[in-house]
Amino acid sequence: MATSGSKDIAHYNPVWGKVDTYALAHSHPASRPNTAALENALTASREAGLPDISLSAAQGKFLALHCRAAGVAHALEVGTLGGYSAIWLASENPALRLTTVEYNPLHVEVARRNIEAAGLADRVEVVHGAGVDVLARLRDEVRAGARPPFGFVFIDADKENNWNYFKLAKEMVKPNSVICVDNVVRRGGLADPENTEPYVLASRRVVEEVGKEPGVDSVVVQTVGSKGYDGWLWAVVS
Ligand code: SAH
Ligand code: DHB
Ligand code: MG
Repeated sequence: MATSGSKDIAHYNPVWGKVDTYALAHSHPASRPNTAALENALTASREAGLPDISLSAAQGKFLALHCRAAGVAHALEVGTLGGYSAIWLASENPALRLTTVEYNPLHVEVARRNIEAAGLADRVEVVHGAGVDVLARLRDEVRAGARPPFGFVFIDADKENNWNYFKLAKEMVKPNSVICVDNVVRRGGLADPENTEPYVLASRRVVEEVGKEPGVDSVVVQTVGSKGYDGWLWAVVS
């Protein structure tokens, strides 16, 4: 079984992309005010040589609408890349403030430029650093009352640290907040005992640990679409 490449034939049905294209033409037509900023972020990121691993448009809008429905004032993201998911969250939520953490200096530079071009620099802070270090600092600031707790966390960086990120995130969210971990299904690798890639082992670890964690209710939501077959760990911290 093929295990690499997000669009290898055994794991990508072109119908999924067609459905995303069809549905978005109605639920998020190109006339929307954030279309140019989102397209610019993807184009500029591609031209700068960043990998094409940002969320799909449907996924970005879903997370943004969740934040709106839940009245999230402060969101946290680990893994900014070129700022595409960040632009979704902030552009769909005029009052939302986002702190997004990125390790790669080129990604930080491209993301800051894309976020500035989107007119969102006043509400989106790109913090340069390693996720675990930055989250530990943010956790200390929240504990000290120096910054408000977060109402939503999106974990989308180095998968090996997913459980570390989750534990830190749990310590700095308000009651009833969602922590979402991207890419845990990995084209079914999550449930394939023969798949022992570090990335997949880390996904199993976060799913299993979060399942045992007191005060947390979680579900794995499988997703298909223009980005292929993957899924989220979606957890509510009480
Ligand atoms: N959320 C983005 C995609 C993120 S891709 C979007 O949907 O648009 C994953 C990102 O995590 C990459 O930019 C990578 O450089 C970053 N990353 C990898 N290891 C990291 C670490 N230890 N700390 C912070 N970011 C990291
Ligand atoms: C990869 C990482 C991601 O965050 C993603 O959404 C898709 C793919 C990767 O490292 O392959
Ligand atoms: Mg991802």
